[in-house]
Amino acid sequence: MIHKYVFGKPFPTEAVVTEVPAAEGEPAYGTIETKEGFCFTYVMEDTDIVYGLGEANRGLNKRGYCYISDCTDEPNHTEDKRSLYGAHNFIIVSGKKTFGLFFDYPSSITFDIGYTRMDTLKVSCGDADLNLFVIDGDSPYDIVKQFRKIIGRSYIPPRYAFGFGQSRWGYKTKDDFRHVVKGYRENNIPLDMVYMDIDYMQDFKDFTLNEENFPDFPEFVQEMKNQNIRLIPIIDAGVKVEKGYDVYEEGVKNRYFCRREDGSDFIAAVWPGDTHFPDLLNDEARAWFGGKYRFLTDQGIEGFWNDMNEPAIFYSPEGINEVKEMLKHFLENEDYNSGINAGTLAVAPTSDTNDSGETDNADWTSVWPLMGKINGLANSKEDYRRFYHMVNGKPIRHDKVHNLFGYNMTRAAGEAFERIDPGKRFLMFSRSSYIGMHRYGGIWMGDNKSWWSHILLNLKMLPSLNMCGFLYTGADLGGFGADTTRDLLLRWLALGVFTPLMRNHAAAGTRDQECYRFEGLEDFRHVINVRYRLIPYLYSEYMKAALNDDLYFRPLAFVYPEDSMAVQVEDQMMLGNEIMIAPVYTQNARGRYVYLPEEMKFVKFLPNGSVLEEIMEKGHHYVEIALNEVPLFIRCGKCIPLAEAAESVDLLDTKHLSMLGYEGAEYVLYEDDGIGKEYDKEENYRTLKKEK
Ligand code: NOJ
Repeated sequence: MIHKYVFGKPFPTEAVVTEVPAAEGEPAYGTIETKEGFCFTYVMEDTDIVYGLGEANRGLNKRGYCYISDCTDEPNHTEDKRSLYGAHNFIIVSGKKTFGLFFDYPSSITFDIGYTRMDTLKVSCGDADLNLFVIDGDSPYDIVKQFRKIIGRSYIPPRYAFGFGQSRWGYKTKDDFRHVVKGYRENNIPLDMVYMDIDYMQDFKDFTLNEENFPDFPEFVQEMKNQNIRLIPIIDAGVKVEKGYDVYEEGVKNRYFCRREDGSDFIAAVWPGDTHFPDLLNDEARAWFGGKYRFLTDQGIEGFWNDMNEPAIFYSPEGINEVKEMLKHFLENEDYNSGINAGTLAVAPTSDTNDSGETDNADWTSVWPLMGKINGLANSKEDYRRFYHMVNGKPIRHDKVHNLFGYNMTRAAGEAFERIDPGKRFLMFSRSSYIGMHRYGGIWMGDNKSWWSHILLNLKMLPSLNMCGFLYTGADLGGFGADTTRDLLLRWLALGVFTPLMRNHAAAGTRDQECYRFEGLEDFRHVINVRYRLIPYLYSEYMKAALNDDLYFRPLAFVYPEDSMAVQVEDQMMLGNEIMIAPVYTQNARGRYVYLPEEMKFVKFLPNGSVLEEIMEKGHHYVEIALNEVPLFIRCGKCIPLAEAAESVDLLDTKHLSMLGYEGAEYVLYEDDGIGKEYDKEENYRTLKKEK
């Protein structure tokens, strides 16, 4: 049962696509205050668990911290961070009273979940203009399914997007790409996609190709396709300000860019230098920007990733001017290093001894505000207040709808693909998102680091993202920032085997991270082979989840709600209806502890291609898992199909599948052509049996 409560004048985010009539009176749970902004308060029981928030920091149970939905270009995912790239305002309180809440509010909103007071959930935002959806259900799982129904079907990628992809910020020329493909193909490591980061563009201009490096691009796209490789280019949110550049000229002429209060086009510096942001909340501008993807689809491109769409801003001219002013003031003030004007600014005066041994009482703390200003230039809240969108003829200040920008960039592309080739699926995922965007694309988890703790963070986010509709997702395997190591990459890949998006991506300047760069590359071949062997099952479970508004990853608590031990597990997840995954995420570990809520079959894919199967009783176990092994657990009485590995998804033989699991068990396999949209055909389903 879903109740919708309307406060003030909500902005139509279009997150919810099913008509839910507005309810009268007060929600059945908590109290609401609307005198200063909006605040929902609920006193939690000691044992209440809070799920949800999609792409957010920390645990699966969100209790005990404060999170802010405020799409942010945050490259340091340390535990203290409250905002990441997405805004997924759906939570479920699970306990004596169990209910779901969706705060459909497009600006910054704070979820204090037992942070200020351990027993209190407080959700607050600046304006009391929002729709609050309150969902009653039998269980958290039931609530998620109801929620998923009203937000519409999740994005369905083409089947090749379940293959493995290699990416790196820094590939520049055709030969760079050829080299990567050769590295994989010659070493027999499967590969389906190579991602093109910003260097493929001419001067980082959207919808251009570097003229010197990419002549005859359609031929190159075809050359790659002949090897079953798809090139997946990046598209950035900012359009370079440059006279004569068609996208810029058209946008200026038609007033498709976000504007300042005085009507001039707002400038933000990103990779190309000065850019304008397309006004993606404006229907006409969105259709125009989406249409630009045609530049690449016409040349044979079938997939994209949308980046920098929080939108990320390095600085604005206004911000720079303020820094200049501050610097001027600082330099003009002769007392700046004498300590006299330290006054309000000083924290602790520093003393240095000069050459002659005298103490120089310079107070360098007075430089801090200036440094703060410089450091705060990027992604500054002030900049988000400096520009406007035109929605239905009315200006709306960006900060009021900030969390919808990435969503609408991806929507622009999704709507355009419907026009370009309505019968075909395109690969699309984005960095920034809001609930609603899950209908148009997936997300990747942004700029993680080559840290062991990020494997676990990645794992914990998966079911939370699924609850909010984002099924096609995965992290930069091996870690984006910082140098990876062989063992970290192998362990991360062994988790990536199960995430719909399986991509190795690394930042410019970091150590080479392609699988074939490391010693003992047969181990990488083996782990990625396991992915390809599992694709019939993974794809089938993904499709069932998408078509039934269900989850691909579920917390154990959703499957074994009566098991108080299972309810607490955060480092094992259920995948589909048949398996449980329990990846190793600790440096130098040779295995790990697992909790089995029922008897299961422990399956280990061994490096020699064979599969070890062992029935294990319900309870706690320590399982040994070597660096080059991939573990999974099959639920009691179930089985899964297994293919032979192939170098690309298109070459997988799905007609001859073997079965793994319990004898006599049956599995309903979903399979379609992987590219069209005829999902509901009966022949897409077939029953397979694990013979005795
Ligand atoms: C930021 C993205 O998060 C990252 O994946 C990408 O490599 C860089 N931008 C450069 O485009």
